[in-house]
Amino acid sequence: MRNKNAPIGVFDSGVGGLTVVREIMRQIPNEKIVYFGDTARVPYGSKSKETVTRYSRQIVRFLQTQEVKAIVVACNTASAYALDEIEKETELPMIGVVKPGARVAAQTTANGKIGVIATEGTVNSHIYSRYIREIKPDANVVGKACPLFVPLVEEGLLQDPVTDEIAKRYLTELIDIGIDTLILGCTHYPLLRSTVGKIMGEGVRLVNPAYETARELKELLGKADLLNEEEPKLGDNKYRFYVSDGAEKFKRFANSIIKYGILSAKIINIEEY
Ligand code: DGL
Repeated sequence: MRNKNAPIGVFDSGVGGLTVVREIMRQIPNEKIVYFGDTARVPYGSKSKETVTRYSRQIVRFLQTQEVKAIVVACNTASAYALDEIEKETELPMIGVVKPGARVAAQTTANGKIGVIATEGTVNSHIYSRYIREIKPDANVVGKACPLFVPLVEEGLLQDPVTDEIAKRYLTELIDIGIDTLILGCTHYPLLRSTVGKIMGEGVRLVNPAYETARELKELLGKADLLNEEEPKLGDNKYRFYVSDGAEKFKRFANSIIKYGILSAKIINIEEY
C-alpha cells in the first residue's frame, strides 16, 4: 500500500518544470513535492533520444530514493523521448506533459489546425501530432522549434523587444497557416505566454500543458486513492528542491516564478544513480 502522505516526484532538465510545479501547488495544495532539475546537463532539447532516456532513468532512480508516490515528467523533451520506456521500469504512477496538452488541444481546435512550439527534440519526435491524431485523426498539426526561447526565459527577458522580435520570426509561419490553437510545448514557454499571445492574436487559443498536467495528476491520484488528505506545514519539508549544478542560480529563478519561498536547493551527483 503506497503512502498518501508521500511526496510527488517532479523532474525537468532544469528550471522549466517549475511552471508545472506552480500548477501542482495551485491545484493540489496539500501535496508535498520533491523536484529535481538537471541543471548540469540542460538542455535536453538538442540531445538524442538515448541520452535523454538515460538521464531520465537516473532521475527516476534518484526520486525513488526519496520515496515518492508518483512521478511527473515535467519536461516535454523527456516526455517525448523517454516516458514510454521509463514508465515500464517502475510500478509508480507516472505522467508526462505531452498527452494532457495534446488532449486539450484536440478538444479545443475548431478548424483542426494546431501549432506546437517546442524544442527541436520534441518537434522532431512528432509526439504531439501522434497523440492529437489519436483523438482527432484529421487534425493538421504543425511543429515549430523555437530554440532561442529557453535562453531568453533564463535571462529573464520575458517582456522585451528582443524577445518580441524573435517570437515574431518564429511564429509568422504559424500565423500564415491559420492555426486556431497553439500548444506551448516546452516547459519554459508558459512564461512567454503574454508575448506569444500578443503576436498570435485573440483568435488563437494558447494551450499550457502544465495546467492540464496538474489537472490530470489530481485525477490520477484520486483514482489511485493517493491524494494527501492532511495539509502539511510549509516548514514540514513540504517542498524540496534538488539540482545537479548551480543551486544559487536555480533558487533565484525559482523564487521569481513560485510564490512560496524556496528555502533551499541541494546539489546532488545524479551520475551516481
Ligand atoms: N524542459 C525542456 C522541455 O520542456 C526545455 C529545456 C531543454 O531543452 O532542456 O522540453
